[in-house]
Amino acid sequence: MNQEIISEILSKYEDEQSSLIAILQDLQEHFGYLPKEILINISKEINIPLSRVLSVATFFAAFSLKPKGKHPIHVCMGTACHVRGAQPILEAFERKLGIKSGENTEDMNFSLETVRCIGCCGLAPVVMVGEDVYGKISQAKVPGILKKYKK
Ligand code: FES
Repeated sequence: MNQEIISEILSKYEDEQSSLIAILQDLQEHFGYLPKEILINISKEINIPLSRVLSVATFFAAFSLKPKGKHPIHVCMGTACHVRGAQPILEAFERKLGIKSGENTEDMNFSLETVRCIGCCGLAPVVMVGEDVYGKISQAKVPGILKKYKK
């Protein structure tokens, strides 16, 4: 099953070795993260040392070697968001979810992480849930946002 997915992804690229980043993007999109056994497999398939595959996978913040929740939450801690109260908002998510930044909820519905500037500082403080952007948020809005994504 996994082998089929890997073959399907690799078949999209003519020069697999120079398409490593795009291949990793596709794999992450499919699996939600980059499982170690898949990276080992990829390294053999495209003949790139595992150390090189791992260094690319860990260099880019967009890649994750750990499973993430179905709805990844990113709380922006960049300067604009920080001065507008990002820290208490992060803490409100932590309290409400019962996890710390960098962790997943037990049911794997949410994961919580901080990021440095999402690129819409005019909306600070900003939080992303999956692809959805929430601007000018306050602690009071946290329960309402989470409610939308509850199972
Ligand atoms: S600092 Fe948060 S969006 Fe730029």
